[in-house]
Amino acid sequence: MARHGIANRAFPLVGPRLEQSWMIVNATTFRAEILLPDLAAATALAARIAPLLIRGDAVALWGELGAGKTTLARETLRALGVSEDVPSPTFTLVQTYETPRLAVAHYDWYRLKAARELDELGFGEALENGAVLVEWPQRAPEYLPDDTLHLRLSSEGEGRRVKITGPERWAVIA
Ligand SMILES: Nc1ncnc2c1ncn2[C@@H]1O[C@H](COP(=O)(O)OP(=O)(O)OP(=O)(O)O)[C@@H](O)[C@H]1O
Ligand SMILES: [Mg+2]
Repeated sequence: MARHGIANRAFPLVGPRLEQSWMIVNATTFRAEILLPDLAAATALAARIAPLLIRGDAVALWGELGAGKTTLARETLRALGVSEDVPSPTFTLVQTYETPRLAVAHYDWYRLKAARELDELGFGEALENGAVLVEWPQRAPEYLPDDTLHLRLSSEGEGRRVKITGPERWAVIA
């Protein structure tokens, strides 16, 4: 399996040495918070993410039921040129797409019974061959690469708030 790691999750129950390495990891990490007042704003955010996605990238979509995870994944796939239907992978757990520039696997881990099911679902191969978009990443966070882009969605009036964390190269999407 490619690039597993726990460096970003190693705090706060750590001694000084690990704490120091956590600080180094986070020195190259950016944080931002943006509002998506409507679906058009979600489409616009997805359109900023899509062209930056490369092979080996993971985007973790956090948030409660109905937070807008599938919407962001779908709009990202649309921005990558997918014109076919983009269903929620709630029951299939994964839907794969060959977009003109990049293979993308869209996962929904909500119904995952055990993290190791991801081996059968080809998660490692999906990361090796393309990018992955993951709803309900809390079911198996240890499978996410260290350089995952995290989008944490919550309700904000009729729209959504997104807390973004990830490597510095993603700062341009905020
Ligand atoms: N930024 C937004 N502003 C307003 N409405 C939104 C926004 N994003 C999503 N929605 C609406 O919220 C509803 C739920 O969205 P979506 O299916 O994407 O949620 P989800 O997080 O994938 O849910 P689940 O946990 O069931 O997978 C949809 O009706 C969608 O149109
Ligand atoms: Mg969904």
